[in-house]
Amino acid sequence: MQRISVAHLQPGMVVAKNVFSAQGQLLLSQGTILTKRYIDRLPLLGITSIYIANPYTDDLEVPETIREETRQQAIATVQQSFAKFRLGRRLDLNALETAAQAIVDEILQNRAALIHLTDIRTYDDYTFGHSVNVSILSVFTGLSLGYARGQLEELALGGMLHDLGKIAIPPAILNKPGKLSAEEMAIMQQHAATGFEILRKQNPEIPLLAAHIAFQHHERLDGSGYPRGLKGDEIHPYARIAAIADVYDALTSDRPYRRAMPPHEAYEILLVFHNKHFDGAMLDQFLRRIACYPVGSFVQLNSGEVAVVIHVPPDLPLRPTVRLLTDREGRALPQPYEVDLTKELSAFICKVLAEDEIIALGNRLSVQDLSQALNY
Ligand SMILES: [Fe+2]
Repeated sequence: MQRISVAHLQPGMVVAKNVFSAQGQLLLSQGTILTKRYIDRLPLLGITSIYIANPYTDDLEVPETIREETRQQAIATVQQSFAKFRLGRRLDLNALETAAQAIVDEILQNRAALIHLTDIRTYDDYTFGHSVNVSILSVFTGLSLGYARGQLEELALGGMLHDLGKIAIPPAILNKPGKLSAEEMAIMQQHAATGFEILRKQNPEIPLLAAHIAFQHHERLDGSGYPRGLKGDEIHPYARIAAIADVYDALTSDRPYRRAMPPHEAYEILLVFHNKHFDGAMLDQFLRRIACYPVGSFVQLNSGEVAVVIHVPPDLPLRPTVRLLTDREGRALPQPYEVDLTKELSAFICKVLAEDEIIALGNRLSVQDLSQALNY
């Protein structure tokens, strides 16, 4: 399957992964054949990309970082919790802790997992899906840093609540499809301190360290962050971890003003800020976990051949096993074959194909297949 943005969808494409609304309602089920009507409706539902079937990747199983069910449950918990809070009630600590424990349990059972991005969020549920992803990514990093179970649970809880202060930001600013003015930016930045205040004063039963994640997740190691411009060790380690998770997930998500960035680009951007914005040792642990070329990515090798990633080794995520689809001149291979880049050391990935290039490649290869079959 292939993640394709709505702008590139064409009637006749087949939906490869269920698409849900923020309320968990099924909007499009797997196997649906897209029509123009469906395609036109997707942006109105706040959806910017979906997974479609692709003959070159459909036999591949994208490993789940965490079960979709656990993630959806956590998203629903965060959403309900925030909704209750808006009505003047306290956050439901029990429900949040149960969700945090479920995330930690699963990650502890699947310690070697790599982070493969497969989730699709609508604009509307961005905050909730993002909160849960920050929670998951933070726990993975904490685990690599040798944190104990109790610490991982605090991290998971803090991740879920890190953007709670956004409750107080006007939706027109929160969802603005463009650059924020200086004044709007100042309002937006209040969410860190607001979140901390809400947690500390109105929900004192929430562990203080989780509240500190809300307060400090926009602080940067070099002191360039907000709200207080803390530096280095002044920033709590949990908040230093959540900062990395927060930026990575934001970059790799569809936003109203830009499309999701592929994992390898987000990886490069984080690296630029190694020991500047982000704690270098923590960033190293985080990046070790990222599948830069997730299963199903179309890549070009230094030889010019085009291939699809079929397996990512957890210990060497930058050297996946690929299935070659074309020769060096871009002609379809009559019989695609696999190359293990952990063994073929002279071969490396030099480019990841963008989605329009993948669609063009698919069209070109099927024409070639046809012409081969017809003996042109
Ligand atoms: Fe934030």
